[in-house]
Amino acid sequence: MRRPLVAGNWKMHGSGAANAALLAEFELRLHSEWPVDIAVFPPFVYLADVARRLRDAAIDVGAQDVCAEPGGAFTGEIAAAMLKDVGCALVIVGHSERRRWNHEDDALVARKFAAASAAGLTPVLCIGETLEEREAGKTEAVVARQLDAVLAMNGVAPFARAVIAYEPVWAIGTGRNASPEQAQAVHAFVRRRIAQQNANIAGQARILYGGSVKAANAGELFAMPDVDGGLVGGASLVADEFYEICAAAAARHERV
Ligand code: PGA
Repeated sequence: MRRPLVAGNWKMHGSGAANAALLAEFELRLHSEWPVDIAVFPPFVYLADVARRLRDAAIDVGAQDVCAEPGGAFTGEIAAAMLKDVGCALVIVGHSERRRWNHEDDALVARKFAAASAAGLTPVLCIGETLEEREAGKTEAVVARQLDAVLAMNGVAPFARAVIAYEPVWAIGTGRNASPEQAQAVHAFVRRRIAQQNANIAGQARILYGGSVKAANAGELFAMPDVDGGLVGGASLVADEFYEICAAAAARHERV
Protein backbone atom coordinates (compact mmCIF):
# COMPACT_ATOMS: atom_id res chain seq x y z
CA MET A 1 0.00 0.00 0.00
CA ARG A 2 1.32 3.43 -0.90
CA ARG A 3 1.39 5.93 1.92
CA PRO A 4 0.02 9.28 0.76
CA LEU A 5 2.25 12.35 0.71
CA VAL A 6 1.13 15.95 0.94
CA ALA A 7 3.89 18.36 -0.05
CA GLY A 8 3.61 22.11 0.49
CA ASN A 9 5.58 24.09 -2.08
CA TRP A 10 5.95 27.56 -0.58
CA LYS A 11 7.60 28.91 -3.75
CA MET A 12 9.06 32.42 -3.19
CA HIS A 13 6.82 33.28 -0.25
CA GLY A 14 7.35 33.75 3.45
CA SER A 15 9.64 35.43 5.95
CA GLY A 16 11.18 34.23 9.17
CA ALA A 17 8.22 35.50 11.16
CA ALA A 18 5.55 34.39 8.69
CA ASN A 19 7.03 30.87 8.45
CA ALA A 20 7.13 30.51 12.23
CA ALA A 21 3.51 31.64 12.53
CA LEU A 22 2.32 29.33 9.73
CA LEU A 23 4.08 26.29 11.15
CA ALA A 24 2.95 26.98 14.71
CA GLU A 25 -0.68 27.22 13.60
CA PHE A 26 -0.44 24.15 11.40
CA GLU A 27 1.39 21.99 13.92
CA LEU A 28 -1.15 22.80 16.58
CA ARG A 29 -3.83 20.97 14.60
CA LEU A 30 -1.72 18.19 13.13
CA HIS A 31 -2.33 14.59 14.20
CA SER A 32 1.05 12.89 14.29
CA GLU A 33 -0.57 9.45 14.07
CA TRP A 34 -2.14 10.21 10.69
CA PRO A 35 -1.13 7.67 8.04
CA VAL A 36 0.20 10.35 5.73
CA ASP A 37 3.62 11.84 5.04
CA ILE A 38 3.75 15.62 5.12
CA ALA A 39 6.54 17.84 3.83
CA VAL A 40 7.08 21.56 3.36
CA PHE A 41 9.39 23.19 0.81
CA PRO A 42 10.47 26.67 1.95
CA PRO A 43 12.81 28.96 -0.02
CA PHE A 44 16.50 28.04 0.37
CA VAL A 45 17.36 30.71 2.91
CA TYR A 46 14.77 29.42 5.39
CA LEU A 47 15.52 25.70 5.06
CA ALA A 48 17.87 25.36 8.02
CA ASP A 49 15.58 27.32 10.32
CA VAL A 50 12.46 25.42 9.27
CA ALA A 51 14.28 22.08 9.57
CA ARG A 52 15.34 23.03 13.10
CA ARG A 53 11.81 24.02 14.04
CA LEU A 54 10.40 20.76 12.68
CA ARG A 55 13.06 18.45 14.08
CA ASP A 56 10.62 16.76 16.44
CA ALA A 57 7.54 17.15 14.26
CA ALA A 58 6.08 14.61 11.85
CA ILE A 59 6.78 16.97 8.96
CA ASP A 60 9.70 16.63 6.55
CA VAL A 61 11.51 19.51 4.91
CA GLY A 62 12.51 19.74 1.28
CA ALA A 63 14.09 22.24 -1.11
CA GLN A 64 12.52 23.61 -4.27
CA ASP A 65 15.53 23.01 -6.49
CA VAL A 66 19.09 21.66 -6.46
CA CYS A 67 22.24 22.03 -8.52
CA ALA A 68 23.05 19.11 -10.84
CA GLU A 69 26.73 19.35 -9.87
CA PRO A 70 28.00 17.89 -6.58
CA GLY A 71 29.98 21.02 -5.67
CA GLY A 72 32.60 23.43 -6.93
CA ALA A 73 32.77 26.79 -8.67
CA PHE A 74 29.07 27.34 -9.36
CA THR A 75 28.24 30.75 -7.93
CA GLY A 76 24.77 30.98 -6.50
CA GLU A 77 24.05 27.25 -6.69
CA ILE A 78 23.23 24.82 -3.87
CA ALA A 79 24.49 21.23 -3.84
CA ALA A 80 22.36 18.24 -2.84
CA ALA A 81 24.77 17.34 -0.02
CA MET A 82 24.27 20.84 1.44
CA LEU A 83 20.53 20.36 1.46
CA LYS A 84 20.98 17.08 3.27
CA ASP A 85 23.38 18.76 5.68
CA VAL A 86 20.82 21.36 6.78
CA GLY A 87 18.10 18.77 7.34
CA CYS A 88 16.30 18.32 4.02
CA ALA A 89 14.86 14.92 3.17
CA LEU A 90 13.41 15.78 -0.23
CA VAL A 91 13.92 18.10 -3.16
CA ILE A 92 11.66 19.18 -6.03
CA VAL A 93 13.22 18.83 -9.48
CA GLY A 94 11.83 20.05 -12.77
CA HIS A 95 9.03 22.24 -11.46
CA SER A 96 7.28 23.85 -14.44
CA GLU A 97 8.17 27.33 -13.17
CA ARG A 98 11.85 26.42 -13.34
CA ARG A 99 11.42 24.75 -16.71
CA ARG A 100 9.78 27.93 -17.94
CA TRP A 101 11.60 30.81 -16.24
CA ASN A 102 15.00 29.17 -15.79
CA HIS A 103 14.95 27.25 -19.06
CA GLU A 104 15.57 23.89 -17.44
CA ASP A 105 15.29 21.13 -20.03
CA ASP A 106 14.63 17.41 -19.60
CA ALA A 107 18.33 16.53 -19.62
CA LEU A 108 19.16 19.00 -16.84
CA VAL A 109 16.19 17.82 -14.78
CA ALA A 110 17.41 14.22 -15.17
CA ARG A 111 20.85 15.28 -13.88
CA LYS A 112 19.30 17.09 -10.92
CA PHE A 113 17.29 13.96 -10.15
CA ALA A 114 20.54 11.96 -10.19
CA ALA A 115 22.31 14.45 -7.92
CA ALA A 116 19.46 14.36 -5.43
CA SER A 117 19.33 10.56 -5.38
CA ALA A 118 23.10 10.29 -4.99
CA ALA A 119 22.97 12.51 -1.91
CA GLY A 120 20.23 10.43 -0.32
CA LEU A 121 17.46 12.96 -0.92
CA THR A 122 14.06 11.91 -2.23
CA PRO A 123 13.51 13.66 -5.56
CA VAL A 124 10.03 14.98 -6.32
CA LEU A 125 10.02 14.97 -10.11
CA CYS A 126 7.51 17.39 -11.62
CA ILE A 127 6.05 16.65 -15.03
CA GLY A 128 3.07 18.10 -16.86
CA GLU A 129 1.78 19.60 -20.06
CA THR A 130 0.84 23.16 -21.00
CA LEU A 131 -2.69 24.08 -22.05
CA GLU A 132 -1.57 24.30 -25.65
CA GLU A 133 -0.10 20.80 -25.47
CA ARG A 134 -3.26 19.40 -23.86
CA GLU A 135 -5.48 20.98 -26.48
CA ALA A 136 -3.25 19.54 -29.20
CA GLY A 137 -3.73 16.06 -27.71
CA LYS A 138 -0.09 15.84 -26.66
CA THR A 139 -0.47 15.31 -22.90
CA GLU A 140 0.75 11.71 -22.87
CA ALA A 141 3.59 12.42 -25.29
CA VAL A 142 4.83 15.32 -23.12
CA VAL A 143 4.73 13.52 -19.78
CA ALA A 144 6.28 10.42 -21.39
CA ARG A 145 9.13 12.52 -22.77
CA GLN A 146 9.74 14.20 -19.40
CA LEU A 147 9.63 10.89 -17.54
CA ASP A 148 11.69 8.97 -20.09
CA ALA A 149 14.57 11.46 -19.84
CA VAL A 150 14.85 10.69 -16.14
CA LEU A 151 14.41 6.93 -16.61
CA ALA A 152 17.06 6.87 -19.34
CA MET A 153 19.66 8.49 -17.11
CA ASN A 154 18.71 7.01 -13.75
CA GLY A 155 17.03 3.70 -14.50
CA VAL A 156 13.79 2.63 -12.87
CA ALA A 157 15.17 1.58 -9.46
CA PRO A 158 15.10 5.09 -7.85
CA PHE A 159 11.33 5.24 -8.39
CA ALA A 160 10.79 2.80 -5.57
CA ARG A 161 11.52 5.84 -3.40
CA ALA A 162 11.31 8.88 -5.65
CA VAL A 163 8.07 10.79 -6.00
CA ILE A 164 6.47 11.98 -9.23
CA ALA A 165 4.23 15.04 -9.24
CA TYR A 166 1.91 15.37 -12.21
CA GLU A 167 1.24 19.09 -12.47
CA PRO A 168 -0.62 20.25 -15.57
CA VAL A 169 0.84 23.70 -16.17
CA TRP A 170 -2.59 25.15 -16.94
CA ALA A 171 -3.78 24.20 -13.46
CA ILE A 172 -0.93 25.76 -11.48
CA GLY A 173 -1.88 28.91 -9.60
CA THR A 174 -4.90 29.39 -11.85
CA GLY A 175 -7.62 28.12 -9.55
CA ARG A 176 -8.50 25.69 -12.33
CA ASN A 177 -7.63 22.17 -11.20
CA ALA A 178 -7.67 19.10 -13.41
CA SER A 179 -10.80 17.05 -12.83
CA PRO A 180 -10.22 13.91 -10.75
CA GLU A 181 -10.79 11.85 -13.92
CA GLN A 182 -8.27 13.90 -15.92
CA ALA A 183 -5.68 13.51 -13.16
CA GLN A 184 -6.37 9.78 -12.78
CA ALA A 185 -5.96 9.18 -16.51
CA VAL A 186 -2.49 10.74 -16.59
CA HIS A 187 -1.43 9.14 -13.30
CA ALA A 188 -2.43 5.70 -14.62
CA PHE A 189 -0.53 6.40 -17.83
CA VAL A 190 2.61 7.35 -15.86
CA ARG A 191 2.33 4.24 -13.71
CA ARG A 192 1.91 2.03 -16.78
CA ARG A 193 5.00 3.61 -18.32
CA ILE A 194 7.07 2.79 -15.24
CA ALA A 195 5.52 -0.71 -15.18
CA GLN A 196 6.90 -1.33 -18.65
CA GLN A 197 10.30 -1.35 -16.95
CA ASN A 198 9.37 -2.81 -13.58
CA ALA A 199 5.81 -3.59 -12.45
CA ASN A 200 6.78 -3.97 -8.82
CA ILE A 201 8.42 -0.54 -8.64
CA ALA A 202 5.50 0.98 -10.55
CA GLY A 203 3.21 -0.28 -7.81
CA GLN A 204 5.34 1.42 -5.15
CA ALA A 205 5.94 4.76 -6.89
CA ARG A 206 4.02 7.64 -5.37
CA ILE A 207 2.41 9.91 -7.92
CA LEU A 208 1.12 13.23 -6.57
CA TYR A 209 -1.25 15.58 -8.30
CA GLY A 210 -0.45 19.30 -8.26
CA GLY A 211 -2.26 22.33 -9.62
CA SER A 212 -4.79 24.34 -7.60
CA VAL A 213 -5.24 21.66 -4.94
CA LYS A 214 -7.25 23.07 -2.07
CA ALA A 215 -9.37 21.82 0.83
CA ALA A 216 -12.48 21.92 -1.36
CA ASN A 217 -11.16 19.57 -4.06
CA ALA A 218 -8.50 17.47 -2.28
CA GLY A 219 -10.91 14.72 -1.22
CA GLU A 220 -12.19 13.96 -4.71
CA LEU A 221 -8.70 14.12 -6.24
CA PHE A 222 -7.19 11.85 -3.59
CA ALA A 223 -10.06 9.37 -4.00
CA MET A 224 -8.65 8.42 -7.41
CA PRO A 225 -6.79 5.10 -7.23
CA ASP A 226 -3.52 6.37 -8.71
CA VAL A 227 -3.45 9.77 -6.97
CA ASP A 228 -1.19 9.29 -3.95
CA GLY A 229 -1.39 12.80 -2.51
CA GLY A 230 -0.70 16.32 -3.65
CA LEU A 231 1.94 18.92 -4.36
CA VAL A 232 0.26 22.03 -3.06
CA GLY A 233 1.31 25.61 -3.78
CA GLY A 234 -0.95 28.48 -2.73
CA ALA A 235 -3.08 26.48 -0.30
CA SER A 236 0.01 25.32 1.60
CA LEU A 237 0.51 28.89 2.82
CA VAL A 238 -2.82 28.87 4.68
CA ALA A 239 -2.63 26.68 7.78
CA ASP A 240 -6.32 25.67 7.76
CA GLU A 241 -6.30 24.80 4.09
CA PHE A 242 -3.12 22.75 4.33
CA TYR A 243 -4.46 20.96 7.39
CA GLU A 244 -7.69 20.02 5.59
CA ILE A 245 -5.74 18.75 2.57
CA CYS A 246 -3.59 16.55 4.85
CA ALA A 247 -6.78 15.31 6.53
CA ALA A 248 -8.22 14.39 3.12
CA ALA A 249 -5.07 12.40 2.30
CA ALA A 250 -5.23 10.61 5.65
CA ALA A 251 -8.89 9.71 5.00
CA ARG A 252 -7.99 8.32 1.59
CA HIS A 253 -5.40 6.05 3.12
CA GLU A 254 -7.92 4.64 5.53
CA ARG A 255 -10.27 3.78 2.65
CA VAL A 256 -7.70 1.92 0.57
P1 PGA B 1 -0.75 25.77 -6.84
O1 PGA B 1 0.76 25.35 -7.18
O2 PGA B 1 -1.27 24.78 -5.82
O3 PGA B 1 -0.67 27.15 -6.29
O4 PGA B 1 -1.53 25.68 -8.12
C1 PGA B 1 1.15 24.01 -7.27
C2 PGA B 1 2.62 23.91 -7.62
O5 PGA B 1 3.10 24.68 -8.47
O6 PGA B 1 3.35 23.07 -7.08
